[in-house]
Amino acid sequence: MIDTKKIRKFFPAIKAGRIITNNAASTQVPVQLLELLKKLVVQYDNVHRGQSHSSILTTEEFESSYDTIAQFIGAPSRKNIILYRNATEAINAVMYSLMTEFKDGDNIVTTFMEHNSNYVPWYGLCKEILPKFGINVEYKIVKFDTETGALDLDHLKSLVDQRTKIVCCSGASNFLGTINPLKEIKAIADSSGYLQPNGDKRSYLLIDGSQLVPNTYVDVGELDIDFLVWSFHKMLAPFGVGALYAKEELLLKMRPFLYGGDMIAEGMVSPEKVAYNSLPWKFTAGTPNILGTILSSQAIRLLMDFSLNPGKQKYFMTDKKLERKDVKKAMDNIEVHEKILIGEALKILGDISSLNIYGPKTAANRTALVAFTCKNKSPFEIAEKLSNLGIESRAGCHCATLAHRYYELNPPASCRLSFYIYNDIEDVRKACLAVKKCI
Ligand SMILES: Cc1ncc(COP(=O)(O)O)c(C=O)c1O
Repeated sequence: MIDTKKIRKFFPAIKAGRIITNNAASTQVPVQLLELLKKLVVQYDNVHRGQSHSSILTTEEFESSYDTIAQFIGAPSRKNIILYRNATEAINAVMYSLMTEFKDGDNIVTTFMEHNSNYVPWYGLCKEILPKFGINVEYKIVKFDTETGALDLDHLKSLVDQRTKIVCCSGASNFLGTINPLKEIKAIADSSGYLQPNGDKRSYLLIDGSQLVPNTYVDVGELDIDFLVWSFHKMLAPFGVGALYAKEELLLKMRPFLYGGDMIAEGMVSPEKVAYNSLPWKFTAGTPNILGTILSSQAIRLLMDFSLNPGKQKYFMTDKKLERKDVKKAMDNIEVHEKILIGEALKILGDISSLNIYGPKTAANRTALVAFTCKNKSPFEIAEKLSNLGIESRAGCHCATLAHRYYELNPPASCRLSFYIYNDIEDVRKACLAVKKCI
């Protein structure tokens, strides 16, 4: 388990007395990152755009941030990492980059448990963009078991066929908490027989790792997935940076999503032809979120320290390589911690007979979030009452609108509590006992 006593003091929000239990939306920023921000503004300058000491130093820190991010998920190198504003933009980037590859009669498979970020872009592509060019592409949606919260793999298998260009699936649901079996999903995508432009006969697989990467060990090499996206504001960093991992051979062929400065090869712009920059900068048009990128990579290093060396700095502000075994140990430790927290939450909330709890019944295959509704009580009213008791929950559809409608919830809403590494068992008990009190 995480030694929360040693890390809670670093979070101003916790020190101010808040019980932070809405972490699936965004996590809190520790003082180390706030202090780093203060340091960075002294050498504040743009990257790839100057010969000053400040610009060179900032460029080095910015570029090496990509190495940290690549190492964290087991990507071969920084060439596989593209940074955007958030996970949503990263998914849109894949959609726009692949757009011209779609052929009439292709299909896209997504699921009923997706965040709108991994459904609406595909809806837009199929319903609004491609038809304008006379190309008809269908999207198909995989069901899940409403009792267990498990994705229906047989249904997935039945929907994936020779015309499935891409399977888009969440690694973990932000409403059900379900952790999806990525190896099985990958095997199904691999078996489609879809002929990709490079001659591969399989469907691409895009995993929305927004609720997975901050909470569990993810290794893109082991999983052999094509695309992975997630946001850093769910893992201690401030808002503003999301990542796309993609296989290098795909990125080399894909069209840029954004065109403009810095994504072009130096001097290679003429009225006749434009040549693009090398990876990953081919996908980094315009001035990037430089400070956010550095803070995001340092958030990873801090997360490693909080898990493995609480109160000490072995990774944060060093250039120590993130070895796979150490990342695994750190993330497994976080997962164990979160399983204990969610196990306790399920136990207390499970005793409230009027509550309907969504997703897997045990902590074993779920992340540290729990969403619920209560007979004859509005989730919004519950969340408001919780807030009055000092408990931070979230009521609504959490952008998992398809799944809420799948349960025929009216309004399509639930109340959700979600925990992170700095939460202790007391936070969970206080939050769940407050739910009991409210209803
Ligand atoms: C599963 C999932 N996907 C995508 C997103 C979107 O993340 P962002 O708002 O950072 O783009 C979220 C955020 O709640 C999420 O939980």
